Parts: sequence; structure tokens; C-alpha cells
Amino acid sequence: MGKLQGLVAVITGAGSGIGRASALAFAEEGACVLAADIRAASAEETAQQIQSSGASADAAQVDVTKADQVEKMVQRAVDRFGRIDVLFNNAGLPQAFTPFEDSTDELFDRILDVNLRGVFYGCRAAIPRMKAQGGGVILNTASTAGIRPRPGLAVYNASKAAVITLTKTLAVELAPHRIRVVSICPVATDTPMLSSFIGVEQGADEAEGRRRFISTIPWGRLNRPEDLARAAVFLASSDAEMVTGTAFEVDGGRDV
Ligand SMILES: NC(=O)c1ccc[n+]([C@@H]2O[C@H](COP(=O)([O-])OP(=O)(O)OC[C@H]3O[C@@H](n4cnc5c(N)ncnc54)[C@H](O)[C@@H]3O)[C@@H](O)[C@H]2O)c1
Repeated sequence: MGKLQGLVAVITGAGSGIGRASALAFAEEGACVLAADIRAASAEETAQQIQSSGASADAAQVDVTKADQVEKMVQRAVDRFGRIDVLFNNAGLPQAFTPFEDSTDELFDRILDVNLRGVFYGCRAAIPRMKAQGGGVILNTASTAGIRPRPGLAVYNASKAAVITLTKTLAVELAPHRIRVVSICPVATDTPMLSSFIGVEQGADEAEGRRRFISTIPWGRLNRPEDLARAAVFLASSDAEMVTGTAFEVDGGRDV
């Protein structure tokens, strides 16, 4: 039997990278998955990949910065699969390297809106349902950036630190309701987002950027999306019953 047999999971940012790998892994472990993303076609592709393996999945288009859309996403999972056991708030935006004094209002709003407001809306929508059901798990994708920040990424780093603290607060607030809340902190991960951190759009050399990142990771490689997917399966499962409030680093030792 799968580790997540019979559970209903909603995953945002499921059209790519960590979210897609997690959606596939959750389904493989027996969960029914609602794959949600602002890019409808990508979410649909993830759901189809799951369905073609014979598991249950549906897709939803959601902009996590819009409260009504997030509410509808959660309701859709309940309508389609009958409940919501796991919400994985994973959608996020990267920041290009920016000297702090050049950080614009637009940059601040865009990053905080998706990376923090999106998590806030997700939790707010899911918690009443989880309380009514008698429990649940919320996973929030933060980052090593929220623990051991790199320079030039102040807004992104701050957004992830805020997610870590929001998560800890909810963990203590919701423990009496049997709702666990955990943030996952990946180090640089080989997804489309990585090129932004490396500065490829600004002309930086990708191979050199990768080497630079890897040289700061004791384990000696970048994360693969599957590293996070396996961690998320564990954290969502009953194996992690005593894990709540944790900022769970998947980082090859980067934060030590
Ligand atoms: N890749 C890394 O190096 C890295 C490291 C640490 C943390 N993270 C975090 O991991 C999470 C997943 O990122 P990824 O690396 O898989 O990147 P990715 O770009 O492959 O996937 C992010 C997904 O989020 C979706 N998204 C963006 N804005 C959205 C919105 N407003 N509403 C709904 N969906 C939206 C995108 O369409 C995309 O499919 C993010 O929160 C990111 O900050 C990534």
C-alpha cells in the first residue's frame, strides 16, 4: 500500500519542477491529486500524466495571489474527491540578482504576492476544512534562502523567511486540531527557476553559475525535483506524525 493511500492532496505550482515531481510522487503513493497552476495547460499535462498511470487526478487553473481563486481550488478538490488531506503550497517566483538599492516596488509586490500572500491564502482556505475533518497536513515550499541567504536576493530571501515563520506559527496554533504544518527548504534545484537565480537572462554563463552554486553545497550536487518530491511524500505521510513547525532542509548540507 502507498504511503499516501486514499489521501486527497492539492499541489500548487504543479505544472513544473518541484510541484510536478511531487504530484507524480503523491499519486504513485496512492493520493488523489489536484494539480493546480497559473498555467492551465501545464497543470492539465501533470494531471494527464498521472491519469495515464491509472491514478486519480484533476487539474485546476489558479493564481495563488487571488483569494477567490484559491478558495475555488480547495473547493474543487473537496467537490471532486470529497475532502482535502494535504495542501502543498509550492507555487513561487524567483528573483533575479538585484543590488538591494535597485529593488523596485514592483519587484517587492510581485515576489511577496506569490511567495507569501499565496501561501497565506492557501492556508486560510484549507484550514477550516481540515479542522472540520479532524486533521490534515500543510506543506509550504520555503527555501534555504530563508535560513542562509545569498546576497542580491533580499526580497526573495525575506519572502521565504516569512513563510518559515508563518509555518511555525500555524504549527503551534493548529496542533490541537491535528493539523501539521511544515516548510520545506530546498537548496538550488534543477528546475526552470534555476536559470533566474544564476542570472542567465542577464547574460550569465549557465555552466559557470551551476558550478558556483554546487561549490557551496557540501554534498556536491544540485537538488533534483525528485529529491523534494520524496521529502514531501514523507512529510505528508503518517511516518512524519511528530514533525510539525519544522523548516525541513533538503540541501546537501548547505545550511550547516
Ligand atoms: N528551483 C530552485 O532552485 C528552488 C530553490 C528553493 C526553493 N524553490 C521554491 O520551490 C518552489 C517551486 O519552484 P520550482 O523550482 O519548481 O520552479 P518552477 O518555475 O519550475 O515552478 C513554479 C511553478 O509555479 C507556478 N506559478 C507561478 N506563479 C504562480 C501563481 N501566481 N499562481 C499559481 N502558480 C504559479 C509556475 O507557473 C510554475 O509552474 C517555489 O516556491 C520556489 O521558490 C526553488
